[in-house]
Amino acid sequence: MEKRSIDKVAIVTGAGQGLGQAIALRLASEGADIVVAEYNPDNAAQTAEKVRALGRRALAYQIDLSRVDQIPGLVSSAVSEFGHIDILINNAGRMQNQIMLDLTPQDWDRIMDTNQRGLFFCLQAVAKQMIAQIPEEIRNADRAPHSFGKIVSMSSAAGRGGRSYATHYAASKAAVISITRSAALALAKYNINVNAIAPGVVPTPMWAQNDIERGQLFGAKPGETLSNFIETIPLKRASSSEDVAAAIAFLCSPDADYITGQTLNVDGGLEMD
Ligand SMILES: NC(=O)c1ccc[n+]([C@@H]2O[C@H](COP(=O)([O-])OP(=O)(O)OC[C@H]3O[C@@H](n4cnc5c(N)ncnc54)[C@H](O)[C@@H]3O)[C@@H](O)[C@H]2O)c1
Repeated sequence: MEKRSIDKVAIVTGAGQGLGQAIALRLASEGADIVVAEYNPDNAAQTAEKVRALGRRALAYQIDLSRVDQIPGLVSSAVSEFGHIDILINNAGRMQNQIMLDLTPQDWDRIMDTNQRGLFFCLQAVAKQMIAQIPEEIRNADRAPHSFGKIVSMSSAAGRGGRSYATHYAASKAAVISITRSAALALAKYNINVNAIAPGVVPTPMWAQNDIERGQLFGAKPGETLSNFIETIPLKRASSSEDVAAAIAFLCSPDADYITGQTLNVDGGLEMD
């Protein structure tokens, strides 16, 4: 079969490490130029180098997505570098383990500011740019004839069920499912596809931090939290970052032009709704 080529410009938030980096490299390997929108500038530069090593163009852009005033600069820099934006992967996220009765308003805001508020305003800003790119006669008509953009946001299995040790994180990820549905409805007339992915357990730097925090909160031994989780997964293994990146590449491809408003579980069968 001929290799699928995306040949688009993609912004990937939180692409300095973990899932975001794997997604950036997968999209680059399928022919996308990548804007690495990332809080950590050294990690952003490293991912950009890896993208260039795959023969695609890359822009490392330092941003704190919890500061929504920084988002217009991301969009305008992407456009001045590459001319257009075709794909947004809203991947950046923060996690914190904390017992529900001990959660503070500061804990709550720190998670929500990135995972929910930053994610929404990034989606909104990129959607406006995608709409502006549509030829005027099509933009003013009631229906665009083909897809004019793909937006994929990162939810989580935690957004499907509850998490007694991460109420704020689970709520932020449930919000991603809702934002995805609302944005899919709002952007349908422009034929911009809006979907989400709900991973289960992916051993990334975020998981290493989970492991430390669970040790501190509950006395879990190193690796114990991960192995306990894996026991609950029907496929009996953790996800690789590439498992998630593959699902995202599919949602960004023409093969997924008729899919919008969906949250796809990529979790080895952990959640089935
Ligand atoms: N790892 C898992 O098991 C898992 C499971 C379900 C969902 N997720 C979600 O997938 C996404 C990626 O997770 P990961 O495991 O790769 O995490 P990670 O912590 O390893 O990487 C997250 C990246 O996002 C960046 N980031 C965080 N806040 C930011 C901000 N305000 N502005 C800019 N960049 C910011 C970080 O600097 C980091 O590079 C997150 O949204 C996470 O909630 C992860």
